[in-house]
Amino acid sequence: MSPVSIAIENDIAVITIDNPPINATSHAVRKGIWDAIELIDRDDAIRAAILTCAGRTFIAGADVTEFGKPPLDPILPDLIIRMEHATKPIIAAIHGTALGGGLEVALGCHYRVASETAKLGLPEVNLGLIPGAGGTVRLPRLIPVAEAITMITSGKPITARKAHDIGLIDKVAQDDLLSTAKTLAVQIKDTPCPVALMNRAPIKAPDDTTWDGIITDVTKKARGQDAPIVAVNTIRDSVTGDAKTALATERENFVRLRDSDQSKALRHIFFAERSVAKLPELKEVDPHPIRIVGVIGGGIMGASIATATLLVGYAVVMIERDDAACDRGLETIKHHLSGSLKRGLLNQEKYDRLLGDFMGSTDYAALSDADLVIEAVFEDMSVKHDVFGQLSRHCKPTAVLASNTSYLDINAIADMCANPGRVIGLHFFSPAHIMKLLEVVRTAKADAKSLATAFAFAKRLGKIAVPTGICDGFIGNRIMSAYRKHCEYMLEDGALPRDIDRAMVAFGFPMGLFAMQDMAGLEISWATRKRLAPMRDPNERYVALGDYLCEMGRLGKKNGLGWYRYDANGKAENDPVVDDLVISESLKKGITRRTFTDAEIIETILRAMQAEGDKILSEGIATSPDAIDVVMINGYGFPRHKGGPMFMRKTG
Ligand code: NAI
Repeated sequence: MSPVSIAIENDIAVITIDNPPINATSHAVRKGIWDAIELIDRDDAIRAAILTCAGRTFIAGADVTEFGKPPLDPILPDLIIRMEHATKPIIAAIHGTALGGGLEVALGCHYRVASETAKLGLPEVNLGLIPGAGGTVRLPRLIPVAEAITMITSGKPITARKAHDIGLIDKVAQDDLLSTAKTLAVQIKDTPCPVALMNRAPIKAPDDTTWDGIITDVTKKARGQDAPIVAVNTIRDSVTGDAKTALATERENFVRLRDSDQSKALRHIFFAERSVAKLPELKEVDPHPIRIVGVIGGGIMGASIATATLLVGYAVVMIERDDAACDRGLETIKHHLSGSLKRGLLNQEKYDRLLGDFMGSTDYAALSDADLVIEAVFEDMSVKHDVFGQLSRHCKPTAVLASNTSYLDINAIADMCANPGRVIGLHFFSPAHIMKLLEVVRTAKADAKSLATAFAFAKRLGKIAVPTGICDGFIGNRIMSAYRKHCEYMLEDGALPRDIDRAMVAFGFPMGLFAMQDMAGLEISWATRKRLAPMRDPNERYVALGDYLCEMGRLGKKNGLGWYRYDANGKAENDPVVDDLVISESLKKGITRRTFTDAEIIETILRAMQAEGDKILSEGIATSPDAIDVVMINGYGFPRHKGGPMFMRKTG
């Protein structure tokens, strides 16, 4: 049966696409729409048509199962041209999301209405692509060119309100979407079809002199990714040339990008992120319901975990050591929520409601109804022991107890609890209300229900949850420690911190390892190194430069001195003191310094990541190489368009 049906009400045809889950533009859908338009064109009794979708969304993208297969007619660009030239006006009625090919289909319609909560976007750049069915040609002929550039090069969807403000949609439906579309259909059915977008002039086209600046700006933001740059150039060709040629150019560029390494890498990580949390052994396991979440500690992590938890609608009980610490925790939460308020992500009413869902206390008895408790106290085993002892006493037996520890052994923590099966790790990344990554740590005795609860919680938080076993640093911090070691070897062998950082930034990291350490503060890893010192193999090469910096009181950006020195505005400068320290250390160890090329530096870093990745896999810490790529990209700034260290090795 065709996923496209047509119903005729008086002289209005309603074309409905029903192709769950996202009403993708599969071949059957394209053919169904084509046939419906043919029928409508032939039937003189029909005066207008509405294109709508069943289920939770308008067309939200392409059919991934058709990726890589030869396209079957009608292909999407042809279908949209056909729609545009229909003799009766077509109204797209959009709910949920109109994304990629979905928005391009809507651009082929003559009018667009959307429900208040709808989102519209062309996210192709996120997969290393550009719109391939006329998006770069039609969009700048419907909305101002600058807005089209932002939408296409950023890939970020916009709200229905914004879409209405810039002219992308004609109406925001206040109540029922279909009745709004029908009312509009009645109004326009006797007027001629508006001029097809292809035949219109671009809106507010930049003059010749501004294009170079626009392209430079997009190139800077793209940080090594090709698709946004190709997109802006394609838009320029479209706006400055004729639309028909532009359509052909867009297609050519689309096909070229589709076959590129970057697009393959981005598609790899897109699918990896969607599959990594799906553990077959948890498929049939129902999670515990969660209503109240306890957070222990209101410091950097506790406050941002509480914020993330409040934002998705849970009640939060935070436990701190004393009233003053409790107040500080609450102030930090308010600060985070105000940020969301300022960015328009929540309104004052919701802000007040979220704070109403929060309770701070110094008494663990307040956790008696908590369904999940996340501990984020000092990174000190004896403090954690004490906390979990309290949790064992005060929480209900089904409550899942999680530690946010970065390095400590959660098995040991679990073993001192009455029911170790419910103890797991939830390793958030800072700031937890913003960072997408969450390592879900499986302790040796963790039961399936507790793990299923952790994954369900992560999903509600909108996190990418990666399962990991227990080892020092789990997946991410362990790989970072491994490549950090090799970066430090390079310092002693001839590189300076700025050489390594420059190579990493050129490769696509947002910042280099040493600048990142300065930002995080050097004392955390110093404490870890001191803790691990007794276990260190005396025959293994050890670089003490990081320790020397800490001993000199250079703890990073917060005190203005670390691997770099920072000016009053927090801008990093090279510090000759650090250069001298590095060079004299080589001398002391009898190492003849040599130069490293950027390529050599990156090769060294990649090899270190991959070797540690292999160890992690062989020990069963990560479930797949994809999981490692997901962690490095979402938690450690590895450039997304390279697909991750494990993917890079696979593809050479
Ligand atoms: P922090 O020092 O900012 O906060 C710790 C908080 O715990 C303090 O507010 C303190 O008053 C409170 N606290 C200490 N003992 C307590 C007790 N017995 N009962 C209740 N509250 C108590 O530390 P931060 O950075 O938030 O780290 C917390 C945990 O999260 C550590 O285990 C750390 O390794 C881990 N972590 C830290 C990350 C980071 O980037 N800072 C990232 C991921 C994990």
